[in-house]
Amino acid sequence: MTNKNNNKVSQDNPRDQVAGQRPESVDGFTGELQMSPDAMLDLANRTAELIVERFRKLPEEHAWDGEFKKELEDQLMEDPPEHGSPAPEVLERAAKEILSLGVRNDHPRSFAFIPSTSTWPGVLADFLVSAYQVNQCTWLTASGASQMELVVIDWIRRWLGYPESAGGLMTSGGSAASLEALVAARESAGAPERGTVYMSDQSHSALIRAARIMGIKPDRVRLIETDSQFRLDMEALVRTVAQDRDAGLCPVAVCANAGASSTGAIDPLEHLADFCEAEGIWLHVDAAYGGFTVITERGKELLSGIERADTIGLDAHKLLFQPYEAGCLLARDLSTLERAFAVRHDILQDTVWGANHPNFADRGLQLSRSVRALKIWVSVKTFGLAPFRNAISRSMELAAQAEAYIRNNETLEMLIPASLGIVCFRVNPDHANLDEESLEKINRKVLARVFWEDRALMSSTLLRGRFSLRLCIVNHTTTWDDVRETLEAIERFGNEALSD
Ligand SMILES: Cc1ncc(COP(=O)(O)O)c(C=O)c1O
Repeated sequence: MTNKNNNKVSQDNPRDQVAGQRPESVDGFTGELQMSPDAMLDLANRTAELIVERFRKLPEEHAWDGEFKKELEDQLMEDPPEHGSPAPEVLERAAKEILSLGVRNDHPRSFAFIPSTSTWPGVLADFLVSAYQVNQCTWLTASGASQMELVVIDWIRRWLGYPESAGGLMTSGGSAASLEALVAARESAGAPERGTVYMSDQSHSALIRAARIMGIKPDRVRLIETDSQFRLDMEALVRTVAQDRDAGLCPVAVCANAGASSTGAIDPLEHLADFCEAEGIWLHVDAAYGGFTVITERGKELLSGIERADTIGLDAHKLLFQPYEAGCLLARDLSTLERAFAVRHDILQDTVWGANHPNFADRGLQLSRSVRALKIWVSVKTFGLAPFRNAISRSMELAAQAEAYIRNNETLEMLIPASLGIVCFRVNPDHANLDEESLEKINRKVLARVFWEDRALMSSTLLRGRFSLRLCIVNHTTTWDDVRETLEAIERFGNEALSD
């Protein structure tokens, strides 16, 4: 038997029973918004050339470029034109005048915030996805993509050590994953009116925002103090939860860090799981940054206990080297997501194909969804898992190497041990004996000089109010020379700032 497109299908393919009338043929390119096949190919080739040329030149350029508002406004602010311009020129402008202004996250010396370098097959997967214009909200609208997302989610489930009852979905990123996790937690707790949520004082602002959106009053989001390495203090958590229960409040969720964005800190996941189990509180792990380290032996050790969480959020656009947006959320018990998000809608009645044909829209907050899992599938199928494992291990090894370099350096000082790929340190010569205010001034100067004068880009953070320089090593293109030369520049700028 063949299907409507003359492809071979199984005899009882339900698609033939439910799909509606095939639209009129659109062979031939006649519409005003269409291009001829030759023009399409030519434009795609030119765009690909532009991108590959950028990749080639990138390491020699600066990891940041930008402009002030006035210049960009003068360049870009205009009425939409009534008549178009040649497409290659428009796309070249988009690449050179728009996209290249900002942090070049994929630069080998991009160490600020949390960078990421994608893989070329991942980029092309996004191209394919947008060209096919698939809406992966339901099985009917995207059975191939839905099955593929099930496969990718199952890979992640197994990497995390989750049971077969677990499942999830791709999201835009860690923020959406956090929101969906907390909504599932609230529903599972019976949507209490006097709910509270707990997280460490190092947790990402995305979690505070997620708690706010899902209805927790700001003064009931408890930021729990952390230890000397910025990991959540269990005693403080236990004490706060007990006080809240005594006050008649209802703890809804504890959010743990598996790689806090400022320091890379990993909260005590096993202890948190014990506590949450005993207290009947939902445990969500924000593994947006650190989650994919579980595919390495070291990461698996560091994140031991993560598999006991109720939900886990991960970002494949960080340590799995995918283009934005590639977040995902997994729930230990998939039905908790479906109970929280599935809503019947008459116009979608044809899309209900039964339990074995999941509609991803029932698992999260989006109806129309792109095919985000495809970039992971294509990249992993193309390269195999080994190079991903190696790249993640290398990012942690480079951070350890940077730490050793700093500890052996008279101008630089580690502020806390490196965690995952994050190194927090500052310029503080042994002999300088400077107060905190002067040190901050010097380090701010160094940060600014790296920003304006060096090829590298780094950022800063505050460690309990103390100013810290911060390198976040993520990219699979980064080498030890990239890290070492950046540290040498910081040292040089530091010594010059001291003698100013
Ligand atoms: C630890 C952590 N959690 C959550 C987020 C928010 O994720 P996203 O930006 O993908 O929404 C980030 C972003 O960098 C993060 O590092």
